[in-house]
Order: sequence, then C-alpha cells, then structure tokens
Amino acid sequence: MTSTLASAPAKIILFGEHFVVYNQPIILASINKRMKIECKIEEEMNKTLTIETNHFGKKTYPLSIIEKNNHYPANDFFYPIIYILRKILPHYAEPYGITIKIHSEIPYGVGLGSSAALSVAGVAAILGLNNSVKKKNEILDIAIETERIIHKNSSGADCIVSTYGGLLYYQRNTKIRSLNLSKEISFIIINTGLKHSTGQLVSRVKRFSENNLCEFYNLSNNISGICERAIKALEEGNFLNIGKLMNENQFILERIGVSTTEINNTINDSLQYGAIGSKLTGAGGGGCVLALIHHQDKEYFLDNMRKKGYECFPVSIENQGLKVNIKSSNF
Ligand code: MEV
Repeated sequence: MTSTLASAPAKIILFGEHFVVYNQPIILASINKRMKIECKIEEEMNKTLTIETNHFGKKTYPLSIIEKNNHYPANDFFYPIIYILRKILPHYAEPYGITIKIHSEIPYGVGLGSSAALSVAGVAAILGLNNSVKKKNEILDIAIETERIIHKNSSGADCIVSTYGGLLYYQRNTKIRSLNLSKEISFIIINTGLKHSTGQLVSRVKRFSENNLCEFYNLSNNISGICERAIKALEEGNFLNIGKLMNENQFILERIGVSTTEINNTINDSLQYGAIGSKLTGAGGGGCVLALIHHQDKEYFLDNMRKKGYECFPVSIENQGLKVNIKSSNF
C-alpha cells in the first residue's frame, strides 16, 4: 500500500490580476508558504474517508461519497478534495478507508492562492495514492478543473504558479515564461483579514467591463504595458520602477471596483512607512496588500505597521512549485 505527501506553494500577484481573465498578461510568483497534503489508505477496513485540517478541523464521511454518481452538495470546504477523489480513484480504496491530512501555512480566502494550492497538492497526492505518476502539466489540468468548481472563470494563473513555482509571466492560452531576478527582492504581505469570494469579484469586474467597454479596453492595454515594463524592471532589479508600476496597477484596480477603503488605507500607511510600491494582490475586495520594501527598511516597516495593528509578514519568492513524495509501506 501507499502513502503520499504533496505540497504546493501560495502565490502573490505582482501585476495583472483580473485582466488575465480577459487574456492580458499577468506577472506572479510562488512564495514560501505551502499547502501540505498527506494521503493514505487505511489498514483497517473502516470504509470511511477522513479529512483533517489545521484550519477547519476534521470530518469523516462514508467512503461511498467518492463514488462518481454521489450527489454530495458542493458547499463544503472539503468538496474540492472529494471532487478529486471521485475523478481519480472512485473504487481504489475499497474496502479500506482513506485518511487525508491537510496542513496549510497559507491564510485562507485572502488572495494568496490557498484554493489553487489545495487543488494542485490535492491532485498530486491523490494521484500518487493511485500509484499514478503524472507529469506536472497533467496534474495542472485536473487542478485547474478542480479550482473551477470553486471559481468558475478562473484564468488558471494561480494553479500554474503553484505547480511550476518561481516568478512567471503568463498570458492565458498562449505563453508561460519564467522570469529571472537580478537582485533579491523584499516583499511584505499585509493581511486586512477580510475574506473575499474570488468568483464574486471576477463577476463584478465582468459587469464593469460590460458597462464601460471603451474604458475597459484602454485599461486592459495599460495593464499589458505595465507588465511589459515590469519584466524589464524586474530583470534589471530596478526597484523604483517596480514600485511605480505597482502603484499604477493599483489605480487601475481601484477604477474597476475591486479595491476597498480598508485596502486603500492600508496602502497609504504602507507608503508612509517606506514602501516603494504597494497594491492589492489577488482578487481584492479585502484580502492582502503587497508592499515592496528596500531590504534595509524592512524592520522599520514591520515595526511601525504592527504598532498600527496590522498583521504583516515578509515573504520570499520560492523557486520550487509542486513537490511530491510517494512512499510504499506495509502500514
Ligand atoms: C485571483 O487570484 C486572480 C484573479 O485574476 C482571478 C483569476 O485569475 O482567475 C482575480
């Protein structure tokens, strides 16, 4: 029998969120916070599926829940895992049981890609249980399909960066390019703590685009230009330009209605305490702010923002995406 361990990283979006849904480029990176998923077939013939997490407690279901024609409702945090199990191994565990342990270092529902990391690590771990070693692109396809049950118009960008890792430039259905940084870069995440629904925010932007066709067209071109200039600034390590472009991107996000008063106040405070650039990251409507800081200003920034009551933490770009470890054991 087999037990598997897979982990996939969270992400930050530096430039281009929302517009990527409309085929504009996006620049995003995986960060040093992971979703770890361990799966095993139980020794006992208990015919149950147990899912345990550090954020949402533990739930036990009859194993029949993973049968393809089971119509278990889709409003449960664990539903993506059940969806993957139904897709990949509807009969394999019979007559035993399955235990899945999820340990997440990623704050949930605040724009750091927790659902993409859950989908990517979940697919890889469950495929491993089936002794099925797949290439990353095959894992990615199922992960995107899974993420689309949570947010149906997903561009796939979050799953892509969680699978491949690193700093990426991506344009939907066309290209994925890995970018190289010439200098180490310091980002700080400030979590407003306000949860959002990515699906609802994507729908809000769709309404904006339909009601403001011409403006949305111009804003999309501006985002595309920002991404092109950002590639150069990132590759040259020109922090001032990267910061300026982040601020420009934030104006556009405000214009399409996904920023909030809390986000704007957080950005103003972060700029006051030395951020070179600051913007929301992810879908907006709450969630997290991403601030670019000169390395030497990091401690000053963190001290002052924390004194003001903000939850903030430094993050670094992680080059490795999905990691999988399959162990055969006799239980
Ligand atoms: C969410 O992390 C990023 C969005 O662009 C949605 C998507 O790409 O699917 C808002």
